[in-house]
Amino acid sequence: MRIDDWKPEFSVGVHSLDTDHKLLISLMKQFEDAFAGDHDQQYVTVLSILNALLDYTGYHFGREESMMSAVRYPDLVAHRAAHNEITANLVKLRDDFERDPARVSTARFEETLIESFYRHLTEIDRAYMPYMAARRNLAAIANDAFVHREDDDGLLFIDAD
Ligand SMILES: [Fe+2]
Ligand SMILES: [Fe+2]
Repeated sequence: MRIDDWKPEFSVGVHSLDTDHKLLISLMKQFEDAFAGDHDQQYVTVLSILNALLDYTGYHFGREESMMSAVRYPDLVAHRAAHNEITANLVKLRDDFERDPARVSTARFEETLIESFYRHLTEIDRAYMPYMAARRNLAAIANDAFVHREDDDGLLFIDAD
């Protein structure tokens, strides 16, 4: 199965979260292309894409959870558990690939990235859409607060001087 580019029907109705999803899907597609090549030759590329994916996934899940919490999304607990499971599977995939690329089969990649993560971004996330729409102001405040918190910690931006 190929990973499709982000399309308007994947939208969750929140600009920042759609932007995150676009970036994550683009990283998945880069991973898919690199992974299809010779594993030994692509080792460094695949590993750096997986690390970038893991970093941005952590950031995105944090932002999304703080916004879901702000709009009092009723399925937050289950949604957070799904995020934790995706993260754990991604970490395991990265660690296994780092140790021995031959241990990571195409089937495993499809299961971890496509069946669970890609499906989460393009289908499952849309369940919170009406709650974000109903409390737009609270969602926006949580989004700004989250971005600034990351900024203050220096996690997202590197000082110019
Ligand atoms: Fe998401
Ligand atoms: Fe999510």
